[in-house]
Amino acid sequence: MKAVILVGGEAIRLRPLTLNTPKAMVPVLNTPFLEHVIGYLSQHQIRDIILAQGRLTPPIESYFGDGRRFGVRLSYTVENSPLGTAGAVKNTAKYLDETFLVLNGDIFTDRDITAMLTFHREKKAKVTIALTPVDDPTSYGLIESNAGGRVRCFVEKPGRDEVTTNMINAGIYIIEPEVLAHIPPRVSFSFEHELFPQLLERGEPVYATPSPAYWIDIGTPDKYFQLHLDLLGGKSHRFTPGDKVQIGKQSHIHPEAQITGPVVIGNNCTIGQGARLMGPVVIGPGSVIEEDTIIERSIIWQNARLGARVQVKNSIMAGDCRLEASSTIDGSVLGDNVTVLGGCKLGPGSRTWPGTVVEPAT
Ligand code: GTP
Repeated sequence: MKAVILVGGEAIRLRPLTLNTPKAMVPVLNTPFLEHVIGYLSQHQIRDIILAQGRLTPPIESYFGDGRRFGVRLSYTVENSPLGTAGAVKNTAKYLDETFLVLNGDIFTDRDITAMLTFHREKKAKVTIALTPVDDPTSYGLIESNAGGRVRCFVEKPGRDEVTTNMINAGIYIIEPEVLAHIPPRVSFSFEHELFPQLLERGEPVYATPSPAYWIDIGTPDKYFQLHLDLLGGKSHRFTPGDKVQIGKQSHIHPEAQITGPVVIGNNCTIGQGARLMGPVVIGPGSVIEEDTIIERSIIWQNARLGARVQVKNSIMAGDCRLEASSTIDGSVLGDNVTVLGGCKLGPGSRTWPGTVVEPAT
């Protein structure tokens, strides 16, 4: 079975992390997110993959190339203007002549695709939608189905008193190629709001199947953060935290630094004397953490420079950020290349755009 991965959205909610980095390339445990997704598909013997980009996304193509390095075969499509989820798949139609899988490009899951395909075939479905349970379904699109899994209706972002199910669309679909005929070419068209409801109206066999397997979408900084906590906490069987402290090649940890796992340190990092890393913490490659700096429950991308006595807590820092001596960030998200001058503080909820210099008056 071939798969189409949708990687062409605007990723507005994940800003400022995605202002310079496509959502598919944001690092998760120091590996581009899409590499985790491709590894997952490959584990399920899906090795022919089409990446549906919006505009041309050079970082994706230059990193993944033809896919050989990752044991898969990759093809790419681009759109002149955003085509929406279904329109983007229509744009890949020339590659799709048999049952295929579609995956939102921001999903990390342990779900058994092979079992989903068996269900799809048993039901003779035209479309099978993966369902996942959530605690609070009010901000999602819900799907109601009967005991056999046939979809009855779609409910978009219901009020609390309208909630009849906690099963939401997990952004994974198995689709028969003839369904592509119902998607108009070269215009924006959505699976969730247009194609699937229209197929229901026509009486087509649209099915949905739940799974309790681990699932998260990294659409917002909070969820991106949560994925790290979950992986480092051993919630997905696709990552074993192992001995809880992983140190990359050519990294130097001062013997008087204190590291409490789970902590992942990338290659070529330096952790200075008296520094304290209190996991869950991820530090990107090429980062330098100077003496007596404290990092707690945070994700730091590549080439960070943290001066002496800096404090970082509950925060996400994109690449090439510099925190000067005695600065503090707590509950903050920094875009790339942010500088926080000595002694400055950034408090909970702050979002700092790439290239900003945070001064005492900020
Ligand atoms: P937000 O802007 O924060 O809502 O994020 P998003 O643009 O990623 O939107 P959303 O999370 O709804 O998209 C779900 C998946 O579909 C993501 O993997 C997107 O990359 C992808 N996607 C959304 N719209 C398009 C599109 O027009 N073209 C393509 N190729 N992919 C899309």
